[in-house]
Amino acid sequence: MSLAVQIRQHGGPEELQIVDVPVGEPGPGEIRIRHHAIGLNFIDVYHRTGLYPLNMPASIGMEAAGVVEAVGEGVTHLAPGDRAAYASNPPGSYCEARVMPAKTVCKLPDAISFETGAAMMLKGLTAQYLLKKTLPVEGLQPGDFVLFHAAAGGVGLIACQWAKALGLQLIGTAGSDAKCQLALANGAAHAINYSREDFAARVKEITGGKGVKVVYDSVGKDTWDKSLDCLRPFGLMASFGNASGPVPAFAPGQLGPKGSLYLTRQTLFTHISTRESTQAMADDLFAVVASGQVKIHIDQRYPLADVQQAHRDLEARKTTGCTILTL
Ligand SMILES: NC(=O)c1ccc[n+]([C@@H]2O[C@H](COP(=O)([O-])OP(=O)(O)OC[C@H]3O[C@@H](n4cnc5c(N)ncnc54)[C@H](OP(=O)(O)O)[C@@H]3O)[C@@H](O)[C@H]2O)c1
Repeated sequence: MSLAVQIRQHGGPEELQIVDVPVGEPGPGEIRIRHHAIGLNFIDVYHRTGLYPLNMPASIGMEAAGVVEAVGEGVTHLAPGDRAAYASNPPGSYCEARVMPAKTVCKLPDAISFETGAAMMLKGLTAQYLLKKTLPVEGLQPGDFVLFHAAAGGVGLIACQWAKALGLQLIGTAGSDAKCQLALANGAAHAINYSREDFAARVKEITGGKGVKVVYDSVGKDTWDKSLDCLRPFGLMASFGNASGPVPAFAPGQLGPKGSLYLTRQTLFTHISTRESTQAMADDLFAVVASGQVKIHIDQRYPLADVQQAHRDLEARKTTGCTILTL
């Protein structure tokens, strides 16, 4: 048996209930893993609210680290006793132990703690595919400007550091002066407090009127229109989230007069759809963390029993960096 967080219907944080569930044995292509720490992500809020609907009752959580207890038929990259971490579908990481597909579970290097592993897999693999694979037609070269919204958040602080390591000038936005300072301390070249500044005007100022080559936008509804105005001709609008709400219907015709812009909506789960692609991306993430170029900031820790409060704080924009649930 395992304690696990489930919802019986979509709704507020109060829907998150701790229940006792049977765990069972792994089938073909599966493992059983006992968690040491669990990562909290904004996608967990979308699953809870129903923005991304789930069948009920639904387990929540997409990220964790722990020890493999058993492997099913055909699993060759993991063995019982291995330290491991993952970002993975289906939801269900808010628990002590679970049976799950092995495909996206990676061995965790000895130098990386369970807490760091749990905090960084979903957010770090996202920063990886954004900065390395979600690129404008001309690519990104050292010195190029990119705009990254919510730069002091979980994905954001990793992206600030990784962009600096790549030589990019990341302009970060954040909702308070303290968060802007945090983004700057983590490698952002510039930071804009978008709760009181017109970020599009500031981006134009910073880039000498040219605009940026890419906007990485996970805020969605509130930043969408102005984000398009931050791009230089042939720039890429990379939408990857909806923290402020989903982007309303959009007419592609608007992309022409704004400079023949490109638009993409990305999700990590396409990038980690195979074992090979997951491992290649994870190796890149493990290397940049091991090198010290990217430090994983765990700024909040909540016992699993306080999961409702963790969700409240994440939605209320009270968190910075990564958040974990402890066991
Ligand atoms: N598509 C993908 O593959 C993928 C993968 C991972 C994450 N994501 C997305 O990336 C974003 C960041 O994820 P995360 O887990 O690291 O979360 P996070 O950035 O730690 O938290 C979300 C942040 O969004 C900002 N925000 C702006 N408007 C908001 C609003 N109305 N309500 C709540 N927050 C608001 C807040 O920062 P400020 O106060 O500074 O504005 C908040 O701290 C999320 O949108 C998530 O869905 C997408």
